[in-house]
Order: sequence, then C-alpha cells, then structure tokens
Amino acid sequence: MSLILRNVSHSYHKGTPLETAALRGVSLDVEPGQWVAVVGHTGSGKSTLAQHLNALLLPDAGEITVDGLKAAKGSKDLREIRRRVGLVFQYPEQQLFAESVDEEMAFGPRNWGLPPDQIGPAVDQALALVDLADLPRDRSPFALSGGQKRRLAIASVLSVRPSYLVLDEPTAGLDSRGRRGLMTLIDGLRREGIAVVQVTHDLELALAYCDRICVLERGRALFWGTPQVVVEQLLDRPVQGLSLPEVLAFARDLREKGFNVPLSWDPYEVAHALAKEVG
Ligand SMILES: Nc1ncnc2c1ncn2[C@@H]1O[C@H](COP(=O)(O)OP(=O)(O)OP(=O)(O)O)[C@@H](O)[C@H]1O
Ligand SMILES: [Mg+2]
Repeated sequence: MSLILRNVSHSYHKGTPLETAALRGVSLDVEPGQWVAVVGHTGSGKSTLAQHLNALLLPDAGEITVDGLKAAKGSKDLREIRRRVGLVFQYPEQQLFAESVDEEMAFGPRNWGLPPDQIGPAVDQALALVDLADLPRDRSPFALSGGQKRRLAIASVLSVRPSYLVLDEPTAGLDSRGRRGLMTLIDGLRREGIAVVQVTHDLELALAYCDRICVLERGRALFWGTPQVVVEQLLDRPVQGLSLPEVLAFARDLREKGFNVPLSWDPYEVAHALAKEVG
C-alpha cells in the first residue's frame, strides 16, 4: 500500500505556443504514515505535483498508482483515488466555499456518500483533529483568522478519512507560533497512520520534521531521500532558491578547517561536537 509516481511528466497548454513543461520525469514513493516534503523554488512544479497526487491533474507521461489504483485518463478508479488522497490547496480561499463551518464540513462526507447518521461524528472527529472542536458551527469560514481557515480547509479534507493528505504550502502566511502548531498537528495525523505530503519552500522546516524530501528544480526531482542524504547532495550541488540552514553551512566550514563535527543542521549537535574538539 503506497502512493507511487514513476517518471511523471506534465505540460500545461500542450501543443500550443504557451506550452510549459511543469514536471519532467518525476519519481517518488509515499509509504503509509510517512511525512514527505516537496521543496523547490517558485515555479519548480510543486503545486503541479501536488495536484497529480490526488489525480486532479493527470500525467502526460509516466505512471501514478495509489494503493495499486491507477491514476490515468478514463480509469474507473479516479474517484476512489480522490477520496484516498486529500488535497489541501495552497490558498484556503481556493478551497472554502460554504456559508457556514457546518456546511463546509458536511459537504465532503455527503458528497462521498457517507450515511447521514455518520456525517455528524465524521465532522466532529475531523474538527477535533485540527483543534477546532470549539469553533461556532454557524460562523462563516471567511470570517475566520488565516490560521483557522487553514485548519478548517484541512479538516474538510480529513472528514472523508483519507489515507494520504497533501498540503500545498500549509505554513504560508502563518507566524512562527502558527507554524509550530501546524507541525504538531501534522505529526499527530501521522501518528493516526495518515501519510502526509507537504509542499514547502522552507528547507529548514522540511529537514526538521520530514522523513523524506523531494527537491524539485524546473520540474525535475533533482534529489530524493532522507534529510541526511538530501543535505549531502545539496552541499555538493546547490539549488536555486533553496538556502541551506545556517548551522549546516557552519558545520561544513568547520569540517573544512579540520574540526571533527557532524554535517548536521541541529545547533546542539554541532555545538556539542565543537566543544569536545576545542575542550
Ligand atoms: N494553470 C496553469 N497554466 C499554465 N501554466 C501553469 C499553470 N500552473 C502552473 N503553471 C506553470 O507551471 C510551472 C510550475 O508551476 P507550479 O505552480 O507547479 O510551481 P510551484 O513550485 O508550485 O510554484 P510556487 O512556489 O510559486 O507556488 C510554472 O512555470 C508555472 O508558470
Ligand atoms: Mg505552488
């Protein structure tokens, strides 16, 4: 059971003078319960990739399967793929549409055919997962704060109990407290067994929290692997728009000067090793 992309390519406005190759042969795997980051500069193809993961966009070439179901034009499995893989858009305003929180939340379960008596409990559970259990249900989604809108957009996707959750820049516009809160929320979802794919241009965040990182550059998956593997590749080959954490750059400089410190982005680990070296 996993979400697999093999050599996926996608162009917008194919066959016209406006043709733009947004993804070029991208491959990656998402295992159940994993937290995967997709990082890259603006325009590198992150949102295009996110929309392929739940078959909102289909590949021009290559293959996408979700728990063995094939995401291809005309496939009878597209609806089930879209239920299994929840997509939260880059801007909550792209997603929220209803006049009240209650209506917003009930739409998904109703649309996916949940029996009426199960809709209420599914909504309550999803709101609790994002820490919005106390939100007045008659409030307009558009009257909520930026952070609450984002949580509501996540809850509305969680209400149909997806196995995979794709979040496109979920921390955009949040302050550092809101960002930390969201990371704690995602960690909680993962503990519930939900795999999370998080699109971000914040490499430091990806290194701190995620199990696997995919680095996109101009539509290509340049690097793919654990944070440690990706960091080593990035030290060898910088990527436009992705700055290395300062601690990591410092550790690299120390090593070049002959100090035995690990290539780490954890300030305590580097400081500890350095203290040993000079002590
Ligand atoms: N609907 C569209 N029609 C035409 N071209 C598009 C469309 N959406 C994206 N593109 C182009 O495809 C490429 C990848 O865009 P995409 O939005 O996937 O990048 P991104 O990494 O999400 O960028 P950002 O960090 O700015 O959100 C860009 O060249 C973009 O201009
Ligand atoms: Mg984007």
